[in-house]
Amino acid sequence: MILVFLGPPGSGKGTQAKRLSSQRSWPQLSTGDMLRAAIQAGTSLGREAKSFMDQGALVPDSVVIGLIGERVKQADCASGFILDGFPRTIPQAEALDQLLTGLGRQVQRAVLFEMPDSLLVGRLSGRRTCPQDGSMYHVESARPRKDGVCDQCGTALIQRPDDHEEVISNRLKVYHRQTEPLVGYYRERQLLRPIRADQGLDQVSQGLAEVLK
Ligand code: AP5
Repeated sequence: MILVFLGPPGSGKGTQAKRLSSQRSWPQLSTGDMLRAAIQAGTSLGREAKSFMDQGALVPDSVVIGLIGERVKQADCASGFILDGFPRTIPQAEALDQLLTGLGRQVQRAVLFEMPDSLLVGRLSGRRTCPQDGSMYHVESARPRKDGVCDQCGTALIQRPDDHEEVISNRLKVYHRQTEPLVGYYRERQLLRPIRADQGLDQVSQGLAEVLK
């Protein structure tokens, strides 16, 4: 199954994509993670992306379309994959449809993680991430066993540069302006499946399982 995870920053797309990926063996294709890996590796793509990401703006469509275009052709995507944070604009969605059509495939569901902005700020400002293995924590709702240290690999946790409050408000504006139109795009194609994301982790997973039946 090919899934699109759509929703505002901090609504839990990445957390649920990781859970689902481990249950169903569909890889999580996160353009955010791919771009952060490029930044860490110091590539020219990473340097270009950083200037947009640090301000909470979107990276140009051509960059992310190129990344996804390469990734979906890899062998581990054969039985399905989860697009986490892509597409984020109408041109990205159109490019995805074109790409998949060329491969004889199509998106089966676009899951919309619904959550009010007022709750998202707390989710994002409290998030802590492991720079080594990508594990995610939250200072209140998902605390590591030892403060500030990854449970899996013992690496010191970091706060993403775009998870500071001044950048968060811009990311939310960008979401409403540039990404929310995709709700209509997928609704028209009868692929949209909204779920309530303002619940506990297991309840959100349960809501997700329901819409995948
Ligand atoms: P990206 O990395 O995709 O960030 P995002 O979409 O803003 O989403 P987040 O990762 O912030 O949130 P999430 O919904 O995954 O929530 P999470 O599960 O982490 O993109 C970053 C940047 O890259 C963009 O701003 C842009 O510049 C660029 N970019 C990426 N893709 C692009 C594209 N396609 N086009 C152009 N530019 C692109 O959860 C958040 C926190 O909440 C965590 O701490 C978690 O532990 C906690 N939490 C999760 N679920 C629950 C729950 N149910 N209850 C309590 N706490 C919870």
